[in-house]
Amino acid sequence: MYDVLLDSQSLFLQLFNMYNGEQEWEKGKALFVSISCRDLATANHSLVVGYIAYHITINIRLASCNAERMFLAGLLHDIGKLSMPDSILKSSQRLNTEERKLVIEHVKVGHDALKQLDFGPDILQFCYSHHERLDGSGYPQGTTNLNEIGCIAAISDIYSALKLPRSYRSNCLSDKEIIEFLFQYDNQFNRNYTYILKSFLNKRSSNNLSKIDELIIK
Ligand SMILES: [Fe+2]
Ligand SMILES: [Fe+2]
Repeated sequence: MYDVLLDSQSLFLQLFNMYNGEQEWEKGKALFVSISCRDLATANHSLVVGYIAYHITINIRLASCNAERMFLAGLLHDIGKLSMPDSILKSSQRLNTEERKLVIEHVKVGHDALKQLDFGPDILQFCYSHHERLDGSGYPQGTTNLNEIGCIAAISDIYSALKLPRSYRSNCLSDKEIIEFLFQYDNQFNRNYTYILKSFLNKRSSNNLSKIDELIIK
């Protein structure tokens, strides 16, 4: 019941209610509906990316980024996947070199689409950086120079990718396993942000346990 996807959906309703009628949010909602119609797995993945990005941002209290906008950025970060054929987007097979090239292109395609639609620079940055890694092993640029938004995008994206089932992977990791993974690859992901994510997940899990206790007592 107190699943991360349910919490992400509830944050979605709360924020879209709050920003009802605002142009960027209305455009974001329309694009997110398109993602959901095309591929529910990508839509769920994006919801959780937004949810995690929102909570990391709240907990680091950065002047340079706004938590609500990081949620919107998470919802839209994989919009470029709409350009991929179903044979790749929903594939459970290992992709060949040509197909992998198309997957890599989803970042630039998404970034360019969001730019054409006049989304703000923070949302463009989030989209462009979500597959970059601090050791330069990511894509599309292979840069080692990731700013705060880039680090939030990378960690939120990998959390959601490991947490939810995808067409190419049925096993999902627990929060504890994901945190261990992130510490193991701390040359790729910002270590301070992993600590922040860990503390948020611990708090969330103890809140959920007390909600379950309340239900049992009732
Ligand atoms: Fe992506
Ligand atoms: Fe993603």
